[in-house]
Order: sequence, then structure tokens, then C-alpha cells
Amino acid sequence: MTPPTFFTVRYVINPWMDTAIPVDTATAVAQWAVLRDTYRRLGHAVDEIAPVPGLPDMVYAANAALIVDDTAVIARFRHHQRAGESWAYTRWLRAHGYTTVSTVHVQEGQGDLMLVGSMVLAGIGFRTAPQAPAEIAKLVGLPVVGLELTDPRFYHLDTALAVLDDTTIAYYPAAFTAEARATLTELFPDAIVVAGSDAHVLGLNAVSDGRHVIHPAAATGFADQLHRAGFVPIGLDLSELLKGGGAAKCCTLEVYP
Ligand code: ARG
Repeated sequence: MTPPTFFTVRYVINPWMDTAIPVDTATAVAQWAVLRDTYRRLGHAVDEIAPVPGLPDMVYAANAALIVDDTAVIARFRHHQRAGESWAYTRWLRAHGYTTVSTVHVQEGQGDLMLVGSMVLAGIGFRTAPQAPAEIAKLVGLPVVGLELTDPRFYHLDTALAVLDDTTIAYYPAAFTAEARATLTELFPDAIVVAGSDAHVLGLNAVSDGRHVIHPAAATGFADQLHRAGFVPIGLDLSELLKGGGAAKCCTLEVYP
């Protein structure tokens, strides 16, 4: 995780961002610290990466890479404003024993590439290029299933879909094309289907350890669904970080020891 020390909204690359709305960086740091401390309280190890001045979106660490075993596929960002993040994350990943590889096609790491069991789901359409899934499948040796996103508010896969364990996902159907919805129903007939009211507060931008699911607190309907499905929902206020278009998952690059 990268603390939002330099977080602000001074450019617009997704519909959640508005340079006219002030950001309180101290509040963002405090909300982020609660997220970090929640992971630690649950027994997870959290490493902090040094934030870089001039890279306000670096707090959204999920976008850094896709990690499969000891390979880290470093993001190739769609927007130049975030390009500088790749190097900062590459350094950390190499220092921690990962073999780093890069792609020809644009892809934005765990924001769009989500590991479910032994397959990768790939959100395409807004950030990740349609050619990226085939390229990534070759690099990591796993099937990569492309899912086309249609609504600009759900510009990354992790805004519209949450991985809950190796076989369970939750998603918001309206964020996907009919073809992608058909793929999801076929692959995950028992998925949790989330309502618009929960999706529009970025409720699906959640992190699960297979039991606890940390999600934006405003997604109360999703919390009920999680509870009924046997998970332990933990709602957090991440409203300041929502101003950049991200929440719990965006702020977390998951590494698997
Ligand atoms: N402002 C950032 C962007 O638009 C937010 C990224 C959120 N990260 C995520 N994994 N959805 O790139």
C-alpha cells in the first residue's frame, strides 16, 4: 500500500474526479490508515511503499501490477499522468523477489486484471486494451478472460466486480456488455449480483481474504448479501479516496507469499 501523502485531484481521468471539489489530504491519510490497520488487525502483513511527490494517484496501488506466483506484470498506464508510477512499483517488486515483465499493450494491473482461482478476469474497454488479455495469458501461463466494460463510472474491473474467494465473485451486471454478462453467468452461476445503489458508491471495490471482506461502508445492501453468503463484511469510510475514483481494492496491491 502507498500512503496518500501527496493525494489530490488536479486532473480528470475518470468521472469520479472533479478538480472543483476540494480534497482534504489529511482525511484521506486518516481513512487510508484505518484500512491499513484493519488488514493488520486481521493478521495480514502490509508493506508501505514510499509515495512520490507529483504522483497523486499512486495511492491506488492495485494498478501497479498483476501478480501471478513470482511474476509481476507491471502496468502500462493509459494516461501519461500515471506513467511515472510504474517505475516506483517496479523497484519495490524487484526488491521483494518478483521477476518483473512489461507488456506492449496498455493494462492497469490488479485494477483490471483479477485472479480468481487459476484464471484471470480482465476488464477491457476503458483502460486495458482489448489485445492485452492474449498478451498477458502468454506471460503468466493462465487463461485470461476479457470482459468488456460499458459504463465510464465503472472504468476498471475492480469497480464493478469483486473476487471473494477462488470460486466466488460479486458483480454489477449493468457495468458490462451483454456478451461479458453471458460469460460471467456461465463461469459463475452462483455469483452475488449487486444492486446499482451499492455499485454506485463503489461498494464492489472490496478486498476479501476468503472470509473477511473489506468494502466501502455505504454499500449496506452488499454487506447484507455478503453476510448471508457466509462472509464477514467490514465496511469502512473511504469517502475522501472516492474523490479520485477508488476505494479499498484500488488502494491495495495484493501479494501472495
Ligand atoms: N484516479 C485513478 C485513475 O483514474 C483511480 C484508480 C483507481 N484504481 C482502481 N484500481 N480502480 O486511474
